[in-house]
Amino acid sequence: MAGIWVSWLFVIHFLIVQTSAKIPAIIVFGDSSVDSGNNNQIPTVARSNFEPYGRDFSGGQPTGRFSNGKIPTDFISEAFGLRPIVPAYLDPKYSISDFAIGVSFASAATGYDNLTSDVLGVIPFWKELEYYKEYQKRLKAYLSEQKANYTISEALYVISIGTNDFLENYYALPDRRSQYTIDQYQNFLAGIAQNFVTNLYHLGARKISLGGIPPMGCMPLERTTNIPNGEGCVQSYNNVAVSFNAKLNGLVSNLNKQLPGIQLVFSNPYYAMLNIISKPSAYGFEVASVACCATGMFEMGYACDRYNPFTCTDANKYVFWDSFHPTEKTNRIVSESVVKKVLSKFM
Ligand SMILES: *[C@@H]1O[C@H](CO)[C@@H](O)[C@H](O)[C@H]1NC(C)=O
Ligand SMILES: *[C@@H]1O[C@H](CO)[C@@H](O)[C@H](O)[C@H]1NC(C)=O
Repeated sequence: MAGIWVSWLFVIHFLIVQTSAKIPAIIVFGDSSVDSGNNNQIPTVARSNFEPYGRDFSGGQPTGRFSNGKIPTDFISEAFGLRPIVPAYLDPKYSISDFAIGVSFASAATGYDNLTSDVLGVIPFWKELEYYKEYQKRLKAYLSEQKANYTISEALYVISIGTNDFLENYYALPDRRSQYTIDQYQNFLAGIAQNFVTNLYHLGARKISLGGIPPMGCMPLERTTNIPNGEGCVQSYNNVAVSFNAKLNGLVSNLNKQLPGIQLVFSNPYYAMLNIISKPSAYGFEVASVACCATGMFEMGYACDRYNPFTCTDANKYVFWDSFHPTEKTNRIVSESVVKKVLSKFM
């Protein structure tokens, strides 16, 4: 008898889990925060498909993710009952049968601004949308048009981009700084974000998460150069992140009024990240000011190589993996917070 009850409970549980799976796929746009390997397939130095990147990933494999393990969209996909990884669209190891439940068009070092993607010759943001249009055609051929339409309208779309526009472009190069004040530049970027979301909506997307940017003044690379302030966080960069996030939040509420049926949410990692950086020990971390990889002060990409004797042995003690990117553990904590606070409405 007991065995039968256990089986029935299992069946009921299974049915509940099945019918509550509302999200058929996760579709990702953005930069290195969510690139799972697209840059491996293009000629750029903005890469991480070598050790020690990925050393805590399944199989210890470097994949092109800028972390020791998983990135936020992997955790989000898993939280929605989908696969625990989101493959890169350009990765030849995967095909449309994989992409039908999850795909990333993201490219490390890109930005909203076309000039940002030019800096290291990576995929411009507008081109990510072109790849998505191609993906829709492939999905229709693979699933049938009717089923593909269902996936397109019910999928969760995740956009995570913007940090590079400030740190790799506006504050690093003279062009945009001579054209725009920082406030004007933020408006310029927010206008591109608004057009992107609107175009995505007209292509059939409905459930869309627009990501905010992190406290970028606290990235180890920025702290290292903040000599006058004792290598603390660069407050002015954090202020820019806060005001840019406020503009994105405003455009999210406007678009929700303007576009019938859209369910656009603003996913802000800023405070979850800042809490970890301010009180690392509360989360089990030991170090927040420098990264695990190499000296932890300025290395990322090729400068973060497997032979560097300074690389830490346990990345779980570090908030940052390289001087610009969080460890897997930080990614997991921030993703769980965003899923719980914002994305759970889609579950
Ligand atoms: C970026 O470049 C694309 C392709 O050339 C162009 O269509 C788009 O208008 C440009 N975006 C901006 C904001 O200038
Ligand atoms: C799929 O969606 C497109 C665009 O909304 C629509 O034109 C087409 O009729 C739909 N096809 C089916 C089979 O539902």
